Order: sequence, then C-alpha cells, then structure tokens
Amino acid sequence: MFVTFEGVEGCGKTTQARMLAELLRGRGVEVVETREPGGSPIGPALRALLLSDGSDLLPSTELLLYAAERSEHVARVIRPALERGAWVVCDRYGDATRAYQAFGRGLPREAVERVHALATGGLEPGLTLFLRLPVEKALTRARSRNSTSSSAEGRFEAEEEAFHRRVAEGYEALAREFPRRIRPVDGGGSREAVFERIRGIVELLLHV
Ligand code: TYD
Repeated sequence: MFVTFEGVEGCGKTTQARMLAELLRGRGVEVVETREPGGSPIGPALRALLLSDGSDLLPSTELLLYAAERSEHVARVIRPALERGAWVVCDRYGDATRAYQAFGRGLPREAVERVHALATGGLEPGLTLFLRLPVEKALTRARSRNSTSSSAEGRFEAEEEAFHRRVAEGYEALAREFPRRIRPVDGGGSREAVFERIRGIVELLLHV
C-alpha cells in the first residue's frame, strides 16, 4: 500500500507520517518511510538545489527537477518496496507538484500531468492524507522552525502569503477532484489529536 501525506508548509505532515509508520510497524507491517524531495539516491543534491535560499529557478525548471527526482524515487525506492509487499509512507508526492507548480506557480496543469506521468509511469498513491491547517497558522510554524534550525531550506517559506494561499486552494481543489484517494484531515489540535483522526481513516479504509 502506498500512502502519501500532503499539505502546506508547517501543517505537521512530517510528524504524522512518522507516527503512522510507527503504528504500522507495531502491527507487523514492513514500512518504508520516505519523502520528496530527498528520498531517492540523487535526492540530497536535488533537495539542496530546489530548497536553498540562493536558488533562483524558473517554474518550468522547478517542475522538471521535482520530476527528475521522482523518477529515480519511484523506480529505485517506491516500486521495489511495493513489489515486495512493504507499505510506503511518503511525505509529499505528485499532489505537491500539482498544488505548488500548477496552482502555486501557474504552470499549465496538462504539462504538469504529462511530466508527472512520465516520471511515475502512472503510479498514484492508494491513499493521500491531506492535512488542513489555516495558511497563516501553518506558515508561522514553518517560519519559526526554519529560523531556529540551521537549515538553509527557506526558499518556499519565503514566498509571499498569496502563493501559499494558491497552494492551499490547490490542495482543496485536488481533494474535490480525487475524493476517493485524497482524504482531508483537520490538522488542528495536538499531534495526538491529529493522529487519532488519521488512525481512524487508515483503519477504516485499509483494514490494518
Ligand atoms: P518539504 O520537505 O515537505 O518541506 P516542509 O516540511 O517545509 O513542508 O517540502 C519542501 C518544499 O518543496 C515544499 O515547500 C514544497 C515543495 N515541493 C514542490 O514545490 N513540488 C513538489 O513536487 C514537492 C515534492 C515539493
């Protein structure tokens, strides 16, 4: 089973992905925990290029770099894991490209879909958990996390609020477009409260 987590920066998806992986392992499931950008062998280099404050990339370059990493990630990490029966829990995947590069940057959706299909061979998650949190709240979290860490990955956090609103609206539109696959989850409250919501969905839909 292939499960992805999505949402705007600071929505808490990284913590929730880790908690889900732990729950599944506790139930005897083999879990590969991974993320985009960064999960493939070329991931660290591309992540540095994509997220560093100093990079000034065209939207089309950005799209192609995310897709290049995804192509390696799917072929070398995700598909092999799924083929041996493991679960893959991935922090961001194709919906991030749709939300950020199509809705956020304004690239044509058909171009984004064509590039994504080439990179993935059509592999889509069985379940996508979309953590919903008001943009102002999520951004405050993401920015304070970045200012207290030594990370130089602030390129997206530094974008204007209007950009993040387009991304958030993009995720909402995607949830309407793919209602069977994308499940919105209220990202408010403690991490335990959010996880209870996720556990409920996963148990109901995936019978674990
Ligand atoms: P991530 O590491 O998930 O950062 P955060 O935990 O702060 O949300 O993602 C890094 C950034 O990459 C994030 O701002 C969204 C962006 N991104 C895209 O624009 N397109 C994509 O296809 C992916 C996977 C990520």
